[in-house]
Amino acid sequence: MSTAPNLTAVPATATIPRHIAIIMDGNGRWAKQRFLPRVAGHKAGVEAVRKVTRAARALGVEALTLYAFSSENWRRPEEEIGDLMGLLRLFIRSDLDELVRENVRLRIIGDYRRFAPDIVNLVDDAVARTASNTGPLLAIALNYGAQAELAAIARRLAEHAVAGEVDPAAIDADMIEQALDTAALPPLDLMIRTSGEQRLSNFLLWQAAYAELLFVDTLWPDFDAAALAAAVAAFGQRQRRYGGL
Ligand code: FPP
Repeated sequence: MSTAPNLTAVPATATIPRHIAIIMDGNGRWAKQRFLPRVAGHKAGVEAVRKVTRAARALGVEALTLYAFSSENWRRPEEEIGDLMGLLRLFIRSDLDELVRENVRLRIIGDYRRFAPDIVNLVDDAVARTASNTGPLLAIALNYGAQAELAAIARRLAEHAVAGEVDPAAIDADMIEQALDTAALPPLDLMIRTSGEQRLSNFLLWQAAYAELLFVDTLWPDFDAAALAAAVAAFGQRQRRYGGL
């Protein structure tokens, strides 16, 4: 049994972000600091995924989107890509029952159909098994890149326009929003990046338009329930104006 997450940093009256996205960075450095192979960092990263998804549920966060594999991660050595794929298989096999039980709705964003057929099947089955759930959303970004997401939408809209199905003058931000991989998720409120890097690395570029950005020094494997609670408490202190006063 897992112990209850430590969420004491969040005041009872705090505004809880409806949708949090996380760039889980720093697995390699965490491993290096311990003279361990990079895969050990990724394994510890999966443990952090477990802790943080549980904590997000306990806090009442409606949607959590995790950047597990970017469209640029194919540039990593083949062995590391294989390790990440192996961990993804393991995570789905070992954690799906908990997600189903906890009423979580699993979603995938990104072009995951380029992964090995057994992973595509595993992912499709996992999404299907949670499809009738009604609780929090867990979106995992697999082979995701925001520029590719937006280019695909532009291509689709252009095809519809050429076919006479869409009036180019009617294309607006709402129409694009409806076509995003995240269309079914609440608006993104908070984007967190761990490990001290301060960039978005092609993650949810459109969705981040009005999100609060939080960069923390903690390496992803060390990010836990208390760290998420601290991030949520920091979010609660931000003044959001959406371009107004
Ligand atoms: C960044 O650390 C992390 C990744 C590229 C992969 C994130 C993947 C996981 C946490 C595990 C798989 C996830 C799931 C949902 C099963 P890095 O390797 O770039 O670290 P570094 O910058 O310190 O080298």
